[in-house]
Amino acid sequence: MTERHARRPELGHAAQLRRVMARYQSLVSEQAGDWEAFIAALQRPLPACIWAHPQRTDVAELQALIIAEEGGELPGLARDPWSPLALRLPVDFKAGQRWWYCAGLAHAQEAASQVPVWLLDVHPGQRVLDLCAAPGGKTAQIALALGNRGTLLANDFARERIAALQGNLDRLGIVNVSTTWGDGGNYPAAAGAFDRILVDAPCSSEGTLRRHRSLAARLDPDTLATNARLHGRQLALLRKAVQLCRAGGRILYSTCTFAPEENECIVAQVLEEQAGRLRLLPARLPGLAGRPGLTAWGGRTLDASLANCLRLWPHHTDTGGFFVAVMEKTPDAPQLEPGDTAVLDAGVDDECWLPALAEHYGWPETIWSGLRVQRQTRRGLHLLAADHEPPAQPSAQGRGLFFHRTNIRPPKLTTAGALLFGAQATRQVMELSQEQRDAYLRRASVTPRPQQWADCRPGQVIVRYRGHPLGVALLTRSRTLESLFPSRWSGCAGRS
Ligand SMILES: C[S@@+](CC[C@H](N)C(=O)[O-])C[C@H]1O[C@@H](n2cnc3c(N)ncnc32)[C@H](O)[C@@H]1O
Repeated sequence: MTERHARRPELGHAAQLRRVMARYQSLVSEQAGDWEAFIAALQRPLPACIWAHPQRTDVAELQALIIAEEGGELPGLARDPWSPLALRLPVDFKAGQRWWYCAGLAHAQEAASQVPVWLLDVHPGQRVLDLCAAPGGKTAQIALALGNRGTLLANDFARERIAALQGNLDRLGIVNVSTTWGDGGNYPAAAGAFDRILVDAPCSSEGTLRRHRSLAARLDPDTLATNARLHGRQLALLRKAVQLCRAGGRILYSTCTFAPEENECIVAQVLEEQAGRLRLLPARLPGLAGRPGLTAWGGRTLDASLANCLRLWPHHTDTGGFFVAVMEKTPDAPQLEPGDTAVLDAGVDDECWLPALAEHYGWPETIWSGLRVQRQTRRGLHLLAADHEPPAQPSAQGRGLFFHRTNIRPPKLTTAGALLFGAQATRQVMELSQEQRDAYLRRASVTPRPQQWADCRPGQVIVRYRGHPLGVALLTRSRTLESLFPSRWSGCAGRS
């Protein structure tokens, strides 16, 4: 950021927005209608948005649950016509602080940010790579579109953001993801070819101005056109995706910026380099009021097929700004040889923990079907989809879901494990009242009524609310219920 454009707090927010968006004034007027409506939309806070976990609920059920929990209809609570899972919520609604969020029934993700995965057109059985994955909203969408089976690799450059991604996958019970850490532009070709690749690229993030008001004072419009480092990174990521995509496979490139230099210009350059081996598919969703990609910018004419890209303008879709390009590698394009697959055998004796665990909670033997147990650390056991086949290279940061801690006495089912299997427990399970639920999520102890513990022995129990598992608690000999809800998850419970 240049000295000239360092923070300009002296300007009001609207003036800041006009300053940083001025370079798009004619573009907005030409393709997106009213400039003043655009500036006004950027000043409005963004509606909250969630998607319903398709394996745990559906959007109508989730909507009814929210109405019941909030004591009536909420202004702004609405479905989006282009998504069977998305639900809009009022601007200040803190979904992450509701019990049903802690229970993994939903995930908070900006509406525009949900669009790319719908357009990636993921189907069970496909091998998928998410090259810039953290904090993982789109990874989770892809994982569930794969039916929580098969192989999805989620890569990111920022190690600490991979931890946040893993936390989201754990809450949502996802078992088909291996995470990798590294520069996506250098992702090893030894990983082999993928059917679908998402490049949700790092960008100047202008499209998030509704969410991040303070960004307006920091953005420097003069450097957007010339940010060679950022453009180089975006190009490297997209080129790598082309290399790793199987012939006939699909690549989705997305950003949350309006800047054509980071959008159409990047895609145009890679299309040109591929000389006909890559083509743009129309990026459209029924009911989504997007606009076509640009075919000219900054005095340069781009290929006419760039119109197939999708631009989301905040004043049309009441979202942030977003750009999506969907590309298909032609069937005759060159393809990588398959790489080696990682060896994922269970360690010696590791499966011996399972019968005791199933016996404790009264689970059927079939509970493990379609799953593989693996010891990745001394702490305990992970669960993976049985058909998860990550490559040997790059080596993974983590695979699947950490579900059973075995290095403590007694061993303990993790909260993620309880959310995944708790609905099927027939023993050592306790239904909580609303007050007990709130106390549990605050990590406080409660004294359950005798009818609640009548069928439970002292020891670990799965606690549920309205049939939805919340986690694990300890029923003491004096029949107190001590919360074992993890402190790192307890942000969930700010307002249960
Ligand atoms: C727009 S965010 C991704 C958001 C994510 N797809 C989601 O839906 O939650 C871009 C991500 O790219 C990562 N990143 C930046 N440069 C990268 C690179 N060279 N390789 C891989 N990831 C990179 C950042 O750490 C950041 O997490």
